[in-house]
Amino acid sequence: MDKIKVTGGRPLHGRIDIGGAKNAALPLMAAALLTEEKLTLSNLPHLADIATMAHLLSHLGVAISMDGSSPAEGHQGRVMGLDAKGVKDIVAPYDIVRRMRASLVVLGPLLARFGRAKVSLPGGCAIGTRPIDIHLKALEAMGAQITLDEGYVLAEAPKGLQGAEITFPKVSVGATENLLMAASLANGTTILHNSAREPEVSDLAECLVAMGAKIEGIGNSTLIIHGQKKLHGADYKIIADRIEAGTYAIAALMTNGHLEIAGISPSILGVTLDALRNSGAHIEEKTDSIIVSRKDKIIHPMELTTDPYPGFATDMQAQMMALATIADGTSHISETIFENRFMHVPELLRMGADIHIDGHTATIHGVPKLKSAEVMATDLRASVSLVLAALVAEGTTTLNRVYHIDRGYERVEEKLKAVGAQIERVRGS
Ligand code: UD1
Repeated sequence: MDKIKVTGGRPLHGRIDIGGAKNAALPLMAAALLTEEKLTLSNLPHLADIATMAHLLSHLGVAISMDGSSPAEGHQGRVMGLDAKGVKDIVAPYDIVRRMRASLVVLGPLLARFGRAKVSLPGGCAIGTRPIDIHLKALEAMGAQITLDEGYVLAEAPKGLQGAEITFPKVSVGATENLLMAASLANGTTILHNSAREPEVSDLAECLVAMGAKIEGIGNSTLIIHGQKKLHGADYKIIADRIEAGTYAIAALMTNGHLEIAGISPSILGVTLDALRNSGAHIEEKTDSIIVSRKDKIIHPMELTTDPYPGFATDMQAQMMALATIADGTSHISETIFENRFMHVPELLRMGADIHIDGHTATIHGVPKLKSAEVMATDLRASVSLVLAALVAEGTTTLNRVYHIDRGYERVEEKLKAVGAQIERVRGS
């Protein structure tokens, strides 16, 4: 297994290009199942999770092609064609779903187009139990018959799904995406209340519209979808990854560097920019980039609570905690989305951080210096928070189980090295 070694203490200077958003790309790839025509996605990030979704879709019978022909736009090798004309299977097997919970987004489109889908239950994961009841209840409200058997969800709607008015009991990104896709091919109109408003959900809705879906209220918590008999192919560019951008912005702030974070519209970063400014960042917003440096000598402590968009993203929580470990004072960070998302804390403690957890809230007393240690990645965002901490720690930190980072951060060590970090990947057997 690969490791990453980081020697701390170097300020980062230069420019980092942000890739397409993983959390937008995964449901967009699944949307290809909704039509017999080809869906072409550009700005695709090169990530392990994308390869897993491609594997799942090709297992179902989707023909996948990679196109590297438009280097002028910087899209070389980042354009994927997905042709679901010849889909021959409706089963998403355990072996793939257990590796990536987001595989669940094939449920809605398979059921809507073929009247049947069988998807393995994703099981537990490091950041909590993460049930799928919201997805299933909403599909049932659209007329699906759902049975659970031997670890699989079998969903059937032989006469097609029916439009329905649904209020999600809790905001769920994945359930909103599954239902948007299912409703796009249903009979009649579906109204979804309390929908997730994440930019990645809106990106999916925009792509569905480009494929012929009729959706009102994109970006709002109530979405109205007028079901169509068929959708068609489209060419669609995936939005930039706001979590990757926010992570590198924190790297600039922590190392007292100066980074241009390019290829992203500042508006989708939302309250992440406010949180960084409150912590002492100077952020210049351009049309298609942000420039981040320190405004003050010190990092200010913070009070943060995660919430669905437009609230503070749970996917930025671990990285902000890394920042709080070196703040000048005491911070509090509360996690309201996932019950077990403090897995980075024991590892940060190994690096000399001073953190106490009480229920859903972490109290972080800033320390003047972190120290290197051998640490272990436990999930995607937790692992990158350890890289951030290592960038400012005294000595050389070794991060084990790097495959978690590769799920969501493209060439993290190359991007950081190019702006001055002392970082290397040690290839494992
Ligand atoms: C997505 C993101 C993930 C992010 C999360 C919250 C992708 C691929 N992943 O995950 O990076 O951290 O949104 O912003 O886009 N829940 C239920 N029952 C359900 C579904 C969800 O109780 O049927 C709960 C979850 O356990 C969690 C909350 O609802 O507590 C939000 O989860 P959800 O928005 O569904 O997360 P994902 O779509 O899995």
